[in-house]
Amino acid sequence: MSIPIVRNVRELRTAVAAWRKEGPKVAVVPTMGALHEGHLSLVRAALERADRVIVTLFVNPKQFNSAADLAAYPRTEHEDAAKLAPLGAHMLYAPYGAEMYPDGFATNISVAGVSEGLCGAYRPGHFDGVATVVAKLFLQTGADLAFFGEKDFQQLHVVRRMARDLDIPIEIVACRTVREEDGLAMSSRNVRLSASERNAAPKLAEILVEAADRLTAGAPADDVLAEARQAILLAGYREVEYLELRSDDDLSPLEMASKPARLLVAAWLGDVRLIDNVSVPPKQGAAGVFAPAAAA
Ligand code: PAF
Repeated sequence: MSIPIVRNVRELRTAVAAWRKEGPKVAVVPTMGALHEGHLSLVRAALERADRVIVTLFVNPKQFNSAADLAAYPRTEHEDAAKLAPLGAHMLYAPYGAEMYPDGFATNISVAGVSEGLCGAYRPGHFDGVATVVAKLFLQTGADLAFFGEKDFQQLHVVRRMARDLDIPIEIVACRTVREEDGLAMSSRNVRLSASERNAAPKLAEILVEAADRLTAGAPADDVLAEARQAILLAGYREVEYLELRSDDDLSPLEMASKPARLLVAAWLGDVRLIDNVSVPPKQGAAGVFAPAAAA
């Protein structure tokens, strides 16, 4: 069993046009490869909603902040293709660099607002790189649906805003973060953790969940976040870049979980930067939250 691999836009468009003659729904799952169970769950979700699923694999240089990080990014196309084939994905689109960024490429898509703060504050230009490449992938594939993981929660907001602002007719489907048994969010970067770092890593998710519970119970974010930061450092993390409570719908900062919210973190464990987030539901009956009217 194998999956067709397509390297250029012309071939991609020809294949999609042939599918379109039969009228099926086409989905795209954008990735940078090094596929793990999190990616595969996106592909399965896409196969449930669409008749044809294109998985893209492109390690996008424009979204890396350092040449070292780009060079260290795992490249496992052969293994990735072998993981996709048995799932029934229909195409792996793995374009050459010059196909995505030909000589003279001069366009940059920059999404204001949701790109600012959180990862955007620490990775200048990162979300421009993401928005630019994802817009190209949407336009090249012409897909009806696109699947993204909630693990990259800010990225999800950036992509939604970009597609809406540019009138790209595509539905963005968000899928829950897939975790290892011990709670660590799956990430292509996890393979870079040493054995002792790997042992310490799941503490991050544990601390997030405990903090989220306290926030839902009505505790002020200032107190909860200060204690959670300390707990992350005590767990062996070297640095907490950010730990913030933001509104689920537009990522605006919150002082309390007065509406559906997200607790988002980026922290360094040794030389590996990990990000994670959990949902923070508001307390039942909190101001501004829908509460069913009592029976008359
Ligand atoms: O989440 C990723 O792997 C990348 O940011 C994406 C969406 C494939 C764009 O390069």
